[in-house]
Amino acid sequence: MEDLTWGWAERLAVDCVQGILQPTPTCDTWEQIWNFQARPDDLLISTYPKAGLKKYRSFIHDEGIGAKKGTTWTQEIVDLIQNECDVGRSQRAPTHERFPFIEWKIPTMESGLEQANAMPSPRTLKTHLPIQLLPPSLLEKNCKMIYIARNPKDNMVSYYHFHRMNKALPAPGTWEEYFENFLTGKVCWGSWYDHVKGWWDARHQHRILYLFYEDMKRNPKHEIQKLAEFIGKSLDNKVLDKIVHHTSFDVMKQNPMANYSSVPTEIMNQSISPFMRKGTVGDWKNHFTVAQNERFEDDYRKRMADSSLASRFHF
Ligand code: A3P
Repeated sequence: MEDLTWGWAERLAVDCVQGILQPTPTCDTWEQIWNFQARPDDLLISTYPKAGLKKYRSFIHDEGIGAKKGTTWTQEIVDLIQNECDVGRSQRAPTHERFPFIEWKIPTMESGLEQANAMPSPRTLKTHLPIQLLPPSLLEKNCKMIYIARNPKDNMVSYYHFHRMNKALPAPGTWEEYFENFLTGKVCWGSWYDHVKGWWDARHQHRILYLFYEDMKRNPKHEIQKLAEFIGKSLDNKVLDKIVHHTSFDVMKQNPMANYSSVPTEIMNQSISPFMRKGTVGDWKNHFTVAQNERFEDDYRKRMADSSLASRFHF
């Protein structure tokens, strides 16, 4: 455990792994995670959180180590592509059972690693890990990986509300406090900047399809088509249209296998903020003050100056 001298993070006993804050300890050890044995036909969906399932706050001080944006949306799309839009089949189980979350463990349940190890191939796995913390086997086996990035302003807002409703994450503090912590990367799974840039820089060395939430909103069919091609599925127009429909925000919000309503309210209290909250681009305008926006833009310009990714985000 490294020095965690800032407020809520210290209080809630998060871990610091290679300088990156990870929510704690009910997870398998990092050695186990890094030793995870990928299979060549594994498909990995990776995002910077906001998303995923976590553990009860009361377990936060257990021994071990732990770690955690259109994640759920992409998972649903990928499942329907793989099943050629057999909606009944995609509703066989909740999202967190269909897609092992490799660095995660919920008390009393199998860890993501155990789930993955027991799952027949082909598996679709989920992670929020920055690329440098990824189990090397996924890269060595040349697995296909899908990365979804969301503009940082909306990502921050979504993550803030997720902290509010999710008892397994540190309390976010006030919006003002959270804003500062997000900008300085003192949030679980680390800095948004490092995360999106790390995966972007690796996209040509590995089999990575790098997509953007805003493109999925603007033209879902086009992005679903890209995903299908990457996965190696040829889908006709009718199936594509059906997938667009079944993965729309309104339909997914009503789908108990995709809206996390099966998770006990002790973990996710959807009366505080629903998991399927708004699903829009630009909600940051309802949260950022003028001063925060100026500070954010200034910071964004400096931190993205070295990356061709800078021009890809629209907000
Ligand atoms: P908001 O909080 O802005 O509403 P994750 O799955 O990684 O936790 O990401 C959750 C975010 O994706 C939430 O954003 C959620 O509403 C949004 N989302 C989930 N499914 C979606 C869909 N079908 N269309 C658009 N946004 C979706």
